[in-house]
Amino acid sequence: MKFIVLALCFAAASALTADQISTVQSSFAGVKGDSVGILYAVFKADSSIQDKFSQFAGKDLESIKGSAEFATHANKIVGFFSKIISDLPNIEGDVNTFVASHKPRGATHAQLNNFRSAFVSYMKAHTDFAGAEAAWGATLDAFFGMVFAKM
Ligand code: HEM
Repeated sequence: MKFIVLALCFAAASALTADQISTVQSSFAGVKGDSVGILYAVFKADSSIQDKFSQFAGKDLESIKGSAEFATHANKIVGFFSKIISDLPNIEGDVNTFVASHKPRGATHAQLNNFRSAFVSYMKAHTDFAGAEAAWGATLDAFFGMVFAKM
């Protein structure tokens, strides 16, 4: 029974309303250019995520965050996150791509949950988040729920 309830809660992103999607898309539009700031917030919140990146493992975050290499990776990661947001509600293909590349890397549920909470904290600090919080909650539940069901 628990599994059925969980499956329903995570029922794909198609459960999102058009209003929720446009709220999330316009809220994200304001920050998506700051990929370095977003990746910095994620690494700062959980250094075990940084340590998965061989070129950044064990390095001082404050000294790498200004590097061209950091910007390149930030653009890839936030660029893909941005694709997911713009593809809503049809993100099944993006979820499959993400799982195919990240399951073999051993990304854990704990790291993904920390990515999520670091992202939300970043949004709270950089946007007028209150009006978008519920829509973000539903969107992140949908994405991470679909990912967790597959890895
Ligand atoms: C939170 C746990 C995560 C871990 C541990 C992780 C780990 C990694 C690692 C080790 C790489 C390879 C870097 C390299 O080329 O040297 C990578 C690449 C990448 N990650 Fe993640 N990642 C995580 C979450 C995410 C999230 C949430 C997204 C976006 C939604 C994302 C998007 C990408 C993209 C687009 C790439 C580059 C393409 C690829 O090589 O797959 N990652 N990640």
